[in-house]
Amino acid sequence: MGQEQTAKVILDGNTFELPIIIGSEGERGIDISKLRSLTNYVTLDHGFGNTSNCESAITFLDGEAGILRYRGYPIEQLAEYSSFVETAYLLIYGKLPTSEELREFSGLFNEHSMIHEDMKRLFNGFPVAAHPMAVLASMICSLSAYYPDIDMTNPSKKDFDRIAVQLMSKVRTMVAFAYKKSIGEPFVYPREDLEYVPNLLNMLFSSPTKPYKIYDEVVQAMKVLFILHADHEQNCSTSTVRLVGSSRVNLFASISSGICALWGPLHGGANEAVIDMLEAIQKDGGDVDKYINMAKDKSTSYRLMGVGHRVYKSYDPRAKIIKQCAHELLNKLGVDDPLLEIAIRLEEKVLKDPYFVERNLYPNVDFYSGLIYKAIGIPKDMFTVMFAIGRMPGWIAHWKEMIEVPGGAKIGRPRQIYVGENKRDYVTINKR
Ligand code: ACO
Repeated sequence: MGQEQTAKVILDGNTFELPIIIGSEGERGIDISKLRSLTNYVTLDHGFGNTSNCESAITFLDGEAGILRYRGYPIEQLAEYSSFVETAYLLIYGKLPTSEELREFSGLFNEHSMIHEDMKRLFNGFPVAAHPMAVLASMICSLSAYYPDIDMTNPSKKDFDRIAVQLMSKVRTMVAFAYKKSIGEPFVYPREDLEYVPNLLNMLFSSPTKPYKIYDEVVQAMKVLFILHADHEQNCSTSTVRLVGSSRVNLFASISSGICALWGPLHGGANEAVIDMLEAIQKDGGDVDKYINMAKDKSTSYRLMGVGHRVYKSYDPRAKIIKQCAHELLNKLGVDDPLLEIAIRLEEKVLKDPYFVERNLYPNVDFYSGLIYKAIGIPKDMFTVMFAIGRMPGWIAHWKEMIEVPGGAKIGRPRQIYVGENKRDYVTINKR
């Protein structure tokens, strides 16, 4: 990161100089940290489209060029050659682990895979129809009640390592238990002999009467999805984790708030919404043009789900990998899903339609991910919790980076431009 030139801001006839910050990939930003104290002005930036909240060394993405790298490593290489646990280590600790470090790290996952037996009662307290994201957010937050003994403002390395692994390992068990509860089957416990993804699949799909056959193709597809979802710099849920964490609340509570942010259909909930959309098109006779026209019609708020992205303006590199992965998995499993054919037709039209082309709207990571989960047998309302499992290392890495800022990160506290009533006097109710 460099700091070479300054930006000049002229306000009320006075010129102020603000530092220009240059990132390691040449990204340029104007440092406005002192703007208000110098000028008494603040900035207004709806949706933070132009505002950096931090300097981060975790993920680089170039939305115009369709580039995504974790700690410098291209996402395409990680998706092909790395494992989810190794990628998690890379994101959190900033380097690829040696074989000894990876062995130790993976060992901790087994050590912390169980949840406290008392927590099973919490699962039973939820209605059967509870959305898995509601269950997961509550469960993750309640971990802070089971592990309250840690100084979260400045955890020791040992404590941090333990909590990070607890989160990544237990989230898998919680998601599987939530699923089992929703279908009325007994919980299946984690197994030490299984790696991360097969362990999850086994907890989800095996039962005392019926073992689950773990196919390599399914493991590979799920691993790729988790790696692609593992981080995406300052997205809505990660920014939430950083903002909430900046108050120095514990990591479990910070991550729980990130899970809530991820839930929305404009963010991680889009994978569920994509399948809803494809099913609606199917029921409606498969007329994709009708839905494209609805999305273009400015008199409605209807949008094509899984299309468009705040930062990717050429293509989403994750979507490219996932599309390929969806085709391969469905072929290998012999799944003939009519929704895939609808998705392909929809994508082809979107890529040619001037409305979407002019606005740089392309299929995003969620356009095809739901089709993969569906082929694996994961129900629609579980898609976003699967995303949360994948995003866990990214949230943890950002929390760690935030807490390790020399002197501690400033508490997140945006300003506002007040546009309400000017001062007026209270009027008693009988005189209104
Ligand atoms: N369908 C139709 N039009 C769209 C879509 C869409 N999916 N997305 C954006 N547009 C249009 C907007 O109407 C707007 O048009 P206008 O300029 O004529 O007013 C223009 O494109 C720009 O849209 P914004 O909402 O300003 O873009 P923003 O960057 O704020 O939103 C977002 C990005 C939320 C992802 C948006 O594209 C969207 O709603 N997509 C569908 C939901 C989705 O797939 N979300 C998942 C994102 S990936 C993730 O979070 C993991």
